[in-house]
Amino acid sequence: MPTTATLASPSPLSDRLQAMNESATIAMAKKCRELIAKGFDVINLSFGEPDFQTPQYIKDAAKQALDDGFTFYTPVAGIPELRQAICDKFKRDNQLDFLSNQIVVSTGAKQALTNAIMSLVNPGDEVIVFSPYWVSYEEMIKLAEGKTVPLVGTLENDYKVTAAQLEAAITDRTKLIMYSSPCNPTGAVFSREELGEIAAILARHPQVYALADEIYEYINFVGEHVSLAQFAEVKDRVITVNGFSKGYAMTGWRLGYLAARQDIAAACDKMQSQITSGTCSISQRAGLAALRGGRSSADEMVAAYRRRRDLVLDIVKDIPDLKTPTPNGAFYIFPEVSAYFGRTAPDGSTINNSTDLAMFLLNDALVSVVSGEAFGAPNCMRFSTAAADDKLVEAFRRIKASLAKL
Ligand SMILES: Cc1ncc(COP(=O)(O)O)c(C=O)c1O
Repeated sequence: MPTTATLASPSPLSDRLQAMNESATIAMAKKCRELIAKGFDVINLSFGEPDFQTPQYIKDAAKQALDDGFTFYTPVAGIPELRQAICDKFKRDNQLDFLSNQIVVSTGAKQALTNAIMSLVNPGDEVIVFSPYWVSYEEMIKLAEGKTVPLVGTLENDYKVTAAQLEAAITDRTKLIMYSSPCNPTGAVFSREELGEIAAILARHPQVYALADEIYEYINFVGEHVSLAQFAEVKDRVITVNGFSKGYAMTGWRLGYLAARQDIAAACDKMQSQITSGTCSISQRAGLAALRGGRSSADEMVAAYRRRRDLVLDIVKDIPDLKTPTPNGAFYIFPEVSAYFGRTAPDGSTINNSTDLAMFLLNDALVSVVSGEAFGAPNCMRFSTAAADDKLVEAFRRIKASLAKL
């Protein structure tokens, strides 16, 4: 039996761990699963996960890898064929030339991002994060003991940070900037002109590197995907991250990658050699098949995501207190919801913030969504549109009815 003194002793957990927040999206999905287990008919719009199956030709490649006995450790940075296929993909889709020693394959884009941050950021370094941002960025920066400097895009500019804002935020301590395009959570997509202006600012600050998260590259409704690395003046200082989770519906396979200057790629390789020894051999074979198959399976999914976005926008346009910019990519809508703050719920409680509103929707509408707080946007809320059409229609019918009670 532990003594009282033992129970009262300070937590054994490190300061580093205690400073870290649990992922808000994963926490909300957990609550949602608990309610479902209790028999409630909850619709989950909190998770950033395609509802499609991984295409069959990719699964077949994984089965083949097993049958081939491809079950051993691989080179830490990935099997040579996959790294070459990633170079070919960059050439085909992004007109970018990389050698395979500039590619590091990881356990999801999440690890690629963490590798890059841990390789570049010293304690106290400032990392400018375009906000609203994906929940994990801030926690990854904390792990590296860097300082997150959020730079907030305005609703009027579809939440996109401008080059002028960036210029004003750069200091002597700035080491890195980070953003996603198409953006999770806003769905905003940077144009060539906008990224060109950002590249021009970076060109004037040679100590600043950029981490470009392009995981939603294929889920783009405007057509042109632009990579910051396409601007020659900054290419050597851009780390481009991408992966298979979204475009190929391969979340569970845990496969992502980065492309960077050779010394940075080597640092990420070293980092990962001590942590995972590289990612799953079977997944790598599956990823190789995915890339060799081109992007037609992704195009079919994108058509569905676009249809769903339009379906949802058509419903939310009749909820004027949700101010919803049109997302040009990814699979979320990210409305401003502050008009509801201060209102009273049917049980007499007050909706003070986006987290209260998310809890109200979970309990009253039985729809799980994520508060904007974790994305650096406390006046907003994220709704995933990666669900079947009929589920989306039902979810937004319920949301509309519940919001009308406030
Ligand atoms: C913006 C962004 N970057 C990276 C990731 C991580 O992707 P992966 O599943 O490849 O780790 C996600 C997943 O939700 C994401 O939304």
